[in-house]
Amino acid sequence: MVSLFELGETALAQNFRLVHLEKVSSTNDEALKHGLAGEAGRLWVVADEQVGGRGRLGRVWSSPTGNLYASVLLIDPALPLHLPELGFVAGVAAAEAVGALVGDNPRLGIKWPNDLLFDGAKLAGILLETTVRPDGKRICVIGIGVNCDSNPLDTPYPATALAKIPSIGGEGSEPRAVTMFRHLSSCFAAWLEVWAEGKNFAQIRAKWLKYAAHLGQSITIARQNERIEGIFKTIDSQGRLILAGPQGEKVIEAGDVFLNAPP
Ligand code: BTN
Repeated sequence: MVSLFELGETALAQNFRLVHLEKVSSTNDEALKHGLAGEAGRLWVVADEQVGGRGRLGRVWSSPTGNLYASVLLIDPALPLHLPELGFVAGVAAAEAVGALVGDNPRLGIKWPNDLLFDGAKLAGILLETTVRPDGKRICVIGIGVNCDSNPLDTPYPATALAKIPSIGGEGSEPRAVTMFRHLSSCFAAWLEVWAEGKNFAQIRAKWLKYAAHLGQSITIARQNERIEGIFKTIDSQGRLILAGPQGEKVIEAGDVFLNAPP
């Protein structure tokens, strides 16, 4: 089958390459395999369908055809301490790529750490995985799933899809996932350059905060065995969430954010 997927111009200019597959377990696994096999990095793996798609915190990512499943492989993209920042680079890139389709829309936001929301419903998710290969190089895989034609109905949170959002500047009648990927690959290449191996994470953070959902609002952080309430103040210079509560500020490294109902 001829693939319709293609890299955007900025991605091509920055020497990214693309592998397209029809059905995989998970594009993150495929990208990881390429990394372990000695790939030099800057490789996107895109699939039409995943049968073992996974999300953050061990969750399943429902992956029928019609949505975008894409993972980008980077090898030793920065010092280890900066690698978690890549989730934010991808979050900003994904928000900008969606913005290219739905317009500069205040209804589009990023929920910490990096879920894309439209009108409060989840449109896309990001899963960053890293490992070290035998030659000591670090493999980073950033997997991005965008609900293009459909969204799952059985989620514990509201979800949506591009198909339900009026979009602008459509490029003919090509599949939404193809258009989305072209924008995503270019936006990612552009923001990766801005990031500059972490030297400019401050710029990523500033852009992320412009998209931030629930900033200044009362939220609950749900973790395995606890729930912490507070006001979402900001994210710090490492992308950690700063939560202000009665006992002062807490630094949150992981968890799920839920908006609290007004009192
Ligand atoms: C989340 O919000 O929990 C993260 C979802 C990440 C899903 C994408 S789809 C492409 C890549 N392959 C996977 O198995 N997961 C990521």
